[in-house]
Amino acid sequence: MPILKYGSRNRLVFFLALIALSFVALYLVTRPLAERFAVVAAIAWATLIIVYMMYRWRSIPPVYDPQLIELRHLVELQPLVGGAFLPFSGWAMSPNDLFRLVSTIQVEGYRTIVECGSGVSTIAIGRLLRQLGSGHLYSLEEDKAWHDMMAATLAAEGLTGVVTLIHAPLEPYPGADAGWYALEGARQVQAGAGHIDLLLVDGPKSVATYSRYPALPEFTGQLDENSLIVLDDTRRPNESAVLERWRAEFPLRIEDQPDSPRGQAYIRLLPRS
Ligand SMILES: C[S@@+](CC[C@H](N)C(=O)[O-])C[C@H]1O[C@@H](n2cnc3c(N)ncnc32)[C@H](O)[C@@H]1O
Repeated sequence: MPILKYGSRNRLVFFLALIALSFVALYLVTRPLAERFAVVAAIAWATLIIVYMMYRWRSIPPVYDPQLIELRHLVELQPLVGGAFLPFSGWAMSPNDLFRLVSTIQVEGYRTIVECGSGVSTIAIGRLLRQLGSGHLYSLEEDKAWHDMMAATLAAEGLTGVVTLIHAPLEPYPGADAGWYALEGARQVQAGAGHIDLLLVDGPKSVATYSRYPALPEFTGQLDENSLIVLDDTRRPNESAVLERWRAEFPLRIEDQPDSPRGQAYIRLLPRS
């Protein structure tokens, strides 16, 4: 029952109430036989249950604790994000989502990757592609100061041969209420990338409803049914609206990721009939 899942407060309260009730019930049933016997039986029953619960709670790790899962993924990501200090703030992709993403890149053999919005994900994907020995990441970045900091980090990590970081300040874009990356940036990606295996949409900053809408129409010519499109943060109203608009304009299949903390969506283009 989801309301009584392992490690939850509901489960604890439920079982404590059950123990208390069984204690009282045992006492009330045995008291007519002999009062002293009823007290002894109830205390023995409570002791037995407490010993059993201590044994169970020691042997069942709280595997469903979301914070523990995040921590576990952060540890598993260390080969890709460890070593140098990286700005792993609330702006960065959640460790759960980043872990699933880099695993998917490795398992599916994605090699040409385009990212909207640079950060910790850029370093992790760049390091993975270097480890795999082939592939290239093109990353569009709107913010000049952030771009310069990321460029210095990529250089210090020796990733400039694997990652092309493009500074593309926001410019007006039809249908995107707060603009989108300067189109020379997108043209640079289009000239270099050819077929895109993975389009990761985690920027520009989500300041208006359709801030992230243009990524799909702009890169659609380089995507096909074999490409994966990833849109982060679809639990937020803006990104949810972007997903709905994409769905209305393109034939899409959305693969549900129920355990993604921020609703990172995996999207496939369907063949146009
Ligand atoms: C959602 S963030 C992109 C995060 C990136 N894909 C990652 O996983 O780390 C969108 C934009 O926020 C800005 N940004 C990223 N990390 C930041 C940080 N730690 N602090 C401030 N701004 C950040 C950058 O301009 C970036 O393009």
